[in-house]
Amino acid sequence: MTAAPEPQAGSAPEKRLFIKTYGCQMNVYDSERMADVLRPLGYGVVDSPEGADLVVLNTCHIREKAAEKVYSEIGRLKELRAEDPASAGMTIAVAGCVAQAEGQELMNRAPAVDFVIGPQAFHKLPELVARNSRVRGERLSAEFAAEEKFDALAGPAAARKVAGPAAFLTVQEGCDKFCTFCVVPYTRGAEFSRPAEAILAEARALAEQGVREVTLLGQNVNAYDGAPGGLAALVRALAAVPGLDRIRYTTSHPRDMDAALIAAHGEIEALMPYLHLPVQSGSDRVLKAMNRAHTAERYLRLVERIRGARPDIALSGDFIVGFPGETDADFDATLELVRQVRYASAFSFKYSRRPGTPAAVMADQVEETVKAERLARLQALLEEQRQSFNAAVVGRTLPVLFERKGRYAGQVVGRTPYLQGIFTEGPDTLIGQIAAVEITATGPNSLSGRLAAADAALEPA
Ligand code: 5AD
Ligand code: SF4
Repeated sequence: MTAAPEPQAGSAPEKRLFIKTYGCQMNVYDSERMADVLRPLGYGVVDSPEGADLVVLNTCHIREKAAEKVYSEIGRLKELRAEDPASAGMTIAVAGCVAQAEGQELMNRAPAVDFVIGPQAFHKLPELVARNSRVRGERLSAEFAAEEKFDALAGPAAARKVAGPAAFLTVQEGCDKFCTFCVVPYTRGAEFSRPAEAILAEARALAEQGVREVTLLGQNVNAYDGAPGGLAALVRALAAVPGLDRIRYTTSHPRDMDAALIAAHGEIEALMPYLHLPVQSGSDRVLKAMNRAHTAERYLRLVERIRGARPDIALSGDFIVGFPGETDADFDATLELVRQVRYASAFSFKYSRRPGTPAAVMADQVEETVKAERLARLQALLEEQRQSFNAAVVGRTLPVLFERKGRYAGQVVGRTPYLQGIFTEGPDTLIGQIAAVEITATGPNSLSGRLAAADAALEPA
């Protein structure tokens, strides 16, 4: 869960907007864009719901827990609205994937909600807010029209404002892969790629605001086909945008990792050595039941080819334990795959039954206690690998993009090319700059380092 976007400094806005963001980075991007479309209506982002005129919960439906969190948050907001006179006029809107998947049910179950708006319709927020304000029960349904959404967002009325030097940029939405556990093809719709010109225009505008790094987002970002040559060609074009020094992309499907994109990792300096490449399981039997269309062996060969192009690449992955029918042997195969790959970071989850997906009705659902035990074992191994990846950079000098101030005066926080967070002592003027840092130590969640002498040779990232 992420709080987004950043509240803005400056003159007090006429109306107060609080957005709470759950789930993936695409939601973070969408939340920022919601703030952009509401800004011309006098809404300014604030950092708490107290006294807000409009609260938007931008929700996630991927696992049951994520979806349930929304209902408890609605309960808290309802109480706030009833008890705090300053919050009495608050409009509560639910956006994102829960709105898409459970729209009508949500309105029935949570009458405190004033309206719901799906992930493809939020460009219509101004219209809805203007018309609605506290007229309960309006429901703007979201048809899958990603194209319309992006067109609407490209106009000057929705000019994008970003807070720091690293920004997300959605280039692709939706998914046609239909993994049997996943709701995304139902909540985000079919794969859609934005045209390259629109992306380049947005990237140029970001660079003009001081953005040095963009992370290209898509549920299946490497299936991007909005330009001849696909994602590799898009990355190449973005690398030529003046001021953009770093490019990342996420999330990729192993099936769409083509030769051109692999080669790009060895050829394009601006393409950072980090790749999120979910495998989900190391058992071919489970992978087949998940409809992943790859085997463990194929994934391992792919990793080898990627490391052939970029030997130091930081690999990250997603894992699901306790998929229906997963045996001890299947789980052991996952551990074995992890041992072979050696991940720099990873996300792992207990399988969560999602209504409407094929796996939800599969036989042999795995006991919660078994899932919990497997998850703990997998996470221990992944954590060990993360720590050893971090420990291996100690002593190296790496280019760090500084993104913000630290908690203490004189401290700045940035990221290495491998996406590791790093704390350094240095002036605030470093924010927005890339500087050479010698890595001195590794902590549980981040690295620390000291600024290298201005003429220190940067190791190639
Ligand atoms: N249960 C558990 N994890 C899931 N994911 C997607 N659907 C489910 C589910 N039903 C995980 C996958 C995916 C990540 C975004 O969330 O690992 O890659
Ligand atoms: Fe979900 Fe699979 Fe599509 Fe990823 S590739 S969004 S896991 S259906």
